Amino acid sequence: MIPSKPEHAGTVYVETYGCQMNVSDSELMLGKLAAHGYEAVDTPDGADVILVNTCAIRDHAEQRVLGRLGELKRNMKPGAIVGVTGCMAQRLGPKLLDRAKHVSLVIGPDGYRALPALIEAARRGERTIATTFDLEEHYEDFQPRRFDKVKAWIPVQRGCDYRCTYCIVPTTRGPERSRALADVVREVEATVDEGMSEVVLLGQTVNSYHDGRHDFADLVRAVGAVPGVRRLRFTSPHPNDFGDRVIDALSTVDAVCEHVHLPMQSGSTRILKRMLRRYTREGYFDCVARLRAAIPGLALTTDVIVGFPGETDEDFDETLSAVREIGFADGFTFKFSPRDGTPATRMPAELTVPDAVASERLAELVATIRSQSRAANMQQLGQRYEVLVEREARRGGDLVQTRTRDFKTVLIPGDASMLGQYLTVEITGTTGSTFTGRVVRERQPLPMAG
Ligand code: SAH
Ligand code: SF4
Ligand code: F3S
Repeated sequence: MIPSKPEHAGTVYVETYGCQMNVSDSELMLGKLAAHGYEAVDTPDGADVILVNTCAIRDHAEQRVLGRLGELKRNMKPGAIVGVTGCMAQRLGPKLLDRAKHVSLVIGPDGYRALPALIEAARRGERTIATTFDLEEHYEDFQPRRFDKVKAWIPVQRGCDYRCTYCIVPTTRGPERSRALADVVREVEATVDEGMSEVVLLGQTVNSYHDGRHDFADLVRAVGAVPGVRRLRFTSPHPNDFGDRVIDALSTVDAVCEHVHLPMQSGSTRILKRMLRRYTREGYFDCVARLRAAIPGLALTTDVIVGFPGETDEDFDETLSAVREIGFADGFTFKFSPRDGTPATRMPAELTVPDAVASERLAELVATIRSQSRAANMQQLGQRYEVLVEREARRGGDLVQTRTRDFKTVLIPGDASMLGQYLTVEITGTTGSTFTGRVVRERQPLPMAG
C-alpha cells in the first residue's frame, strides 16, 4: 500500500532551549507533526503552531523562556496555538498556564505522542497540561526530522536516577530508562542509510545505559559495528559508570572518537560530597587516568559549578588546581543556581556563597580554562588531522566548519557541497579556541615497482 500523504494541517515552528536531549526531542516532535500533515517553518512569524521546548536547569534558562514567551505574544499571528514543552513545562505545569494566557499547551518530555491531538483540542479552545511520566515511552515509531545533516543525535536513555543535590533533571525527566539495544541499532542503521556517518549517543548518564540485557559496553560495540558508522560519540557520561567493560569497549571500537565530555562539577571532595556526586577528587582523577590510558590522544572537556553552598576559597582552589592538573581542552562553567525542591536549597542559609564571590570565582575559572586551552592550541600549528565537514561557518564568507575526532573546530575554505566529507587538514592558525586550516592531499602510495 502506498502511504497516503496527510492533509496539510498548518505550519509549525519549534524553538529549542537546553541540552542535546531537548534538541533530539524537538526532532521527534517535528517528525511526529510532519506525519500528521504539519509543515515545519523556520520562523514564528505567521506560524499556525509555535512550540517552545524549554530547559529548567538554571533560573537564567527559565527567565529567558519567559521573556521569549512575552515577545512571541506580541508578534505571533492572531489565533496561533502556543505550546510550552520540555523541562520547564514539566516543572511548572499549571503555573505556566496561569502566567501566560496565550499559552494553551503545557507538555512534559514524556507527552509528545499526544501532540497532534492536543493541538486539535487547543484549536477548539481547550488548554491542556500533560505532565505524566511514561516510563515506557521512547517514541520508537516516530521518524525524527533531523536538524543536523551530518551527525545524528540518538537518544538511548531518558531520565536520571542520580540525585545530585543541585539538579532539577530527575524532577523534570523522571526515572532513568534505556531503549532496547536493537531499537538503537535500527535507528543508527537508518541514519547511515540517510547518508550520515557520525552518531552521538545521548543520555543524562549515558554510560549507565542498561536495557535489561545489554550494558553500555554492548551498546558501543553494537553501534560501532554498524557499517558506515565512522565516528561514534556519547554524552554525558558519569565518572562512576566507567567500569572496565565500558572502558575496554571504548578502547577497542575504532569509531569511538578521542573526546569525552566528563562533567567534574568541583575539584573538592568536600563539595563533591555535598553535591552527592558519589565520587571524590581522587576518584575523578582516577577515572581520567583510566580513560587516557585506554584512548590515546584523548581530549577531555567538562562542566564545573562554582558557588555551591559552603564552597570556601580552599574548595575553589582545589577546583582550579584540578582544572590545571587535568588540562581540559574546554569547559562549561556555571554559577550555582538554586532550583526549587532540590536538596541544595535546604542547606543552611549561612552556607550561601555571595553572588559577588561566585562571579569572581567564575571569572577566574573561565580565565584559567581559556589560557590553558589557548596555550595547548598554539602547539597545534602545522599538525594534520582528519576532519568531517559539519556545516557552513556561521561567520559567513566561503568557509565551512569542520571537526576533528578529538572535537577541535577547524574552519577551512569551502562551501555547502562539502558537507559530510572527510578531509585531511593542516592547522594554519588559531583564535585561541577554534582553528583555521587548509586541506592537504593525502600522499598517494607510490606505485609498486615491477
Ligand atoms: N547529566 C549531566 C548534566 C546535565 S546538566 C551530568 O550529570 O553530567 C548540565 C550541567 O549543568 C551540569 O553538568 C552542571 O554542571 C550544570 N548544572 C546543573 N544544575 C545546575 C544548577 N542548579 N546550577 C548551576 N549549574 C547546574
Ligand atoms: Fe543532574 Fe546529576 Fe542526573 Fe546529571 S547525574 S542529570 S547532574 S542529577
Ligand atoms: Fe535543561 Fe532539561 Fe536538558 S533541564 S539541560 S533541557 S534535561
